[in-house]
Amino acid sequence: MDLSTTYLGLKLAHPLMPGASPMVDNLDTVRRLEDAGAAAIVMHSLFEEQITREEQGADRFVHGLEGAHAEAQSYFPDASIFALGPDAYLEQLRRIREAVRVPVIASLNGATQGGWLRYAQLMESAGAHALELNLYTLATSPSESAEAVEARLVGIVAAVRKSVRLPLAVKLSPFFSALPHFARRLEEAGADGLVLFNRFYQPDIDVEDLDVKRSLRLSTPSELLLRLRWLAILSGHVKGSLAVTGGVHDALDAVKAIMAGAHAVQMVSSLLLHGPTHLRVVKDQLERWLDEHEYLSVKQMRGSMDLERCPDPLAYERANYVAILQGWRP
Ligand SMILES: Cc1cc2nc3c(=O)[nH]c(=O)nc-3n(C[C@H](O)[C@H](O)[C@H](O)COP(=O)(O)O)c2cc1C
Repeated sequence: MDLSTTYLGLKLAHPLMPGASPMVDNLDTVRRLEDAGAAAIVMHSLFEEQITREEQGADRFVHGLEGAHAEAQSYFPDASIFALGPDAYLEQLRRIREAVRVPVIASLNGATQGGWLRYAQLMESAGAHALELNLYTLATSPSESAEAVEARLVGIVAAVRKSVRLPLAVKLSPFFSALPHFARRLEEAGADGLVLFNRFYQPDIDVEDLDVKRSLRLSTPSELLLRLRWLAILSGHVKGSLAVTGGVHDALDAVKAIMAGAHAVQMVSSLLLHGPTHLRVVKDQLERWLDEHEYLSVKQMRGSMDLERCPDPLAYERANYVAILQGWRP
């Protein structure tokens, strides 16, 4: 069975890999992920806020923000919340490169153009095989238009593209009004692939303490459906690679994502829940499933259920919404 895939120009033994998460902070865990068969290792992100904080000096922050509203301080989270500072991140990248034979994908996470982007180059020098750029942004200002948000993000991609030769994946949220058009703009700016989608960690409200509670719930497979739809829609439109992240817990989830068009399948919650060896379980199940269903390769299956090739393309579009609502019976 040929499980191989090409993702961001990297030839991988199969599509399964751990997505960005703190698992990579521990070299032992990284080795266990490789032993479990991970096709690549995605590092957790180095955040814009971390780099900016360090660039401008912690002291300046403390003084500059004294007495400032808590909201303003939250733009620059306390350094202690980050597992690895910028230098330690690069050092960990070098260590992981030495420890494993599979490709290592570093991750930068931010939402504005600035000096922090030079870390793309430093990651390239430290040996990353590819870079995942997580453009996690929330458009909270009424004065910034959708066009301006997109232009800002495209500008970041273009700036990174100019500074590195590394394959570049862009990790996106699903909240764009015209995702296929935006995807094309990102490709034109130099993205070699898209990672769908960021999960938004939704704050809850504590009604007794009148506080906003931060919460991080691990995903469930129900979150995969949003990804399947957009993989299927984008599959025929983008020239580069597609990766899924969000809601992949077992081999059937991976099969669906690949059928919808994914070249790479990232898992985090399921590995945090069941441990690194779960990757091997999913890989073995995937191989068995393909065999039982008489596929010769992952490539043969990839995109077979995307918008252009599935038997009912309208199922991904508005027509499906109307049919589902009208078809409901109590
Ligand atoms: C504890 C934790 C830390 C994460 N850290 C990062 C990160 O640093 N950068 C990033 O792009 N995504 C990060 N993510 C998001 C994951 O990479 C992934 O996109 C998300 O969890 C959805 O995939 P899943 O359903 O397989 O968990 C993190 C997720 C978790 C649970």
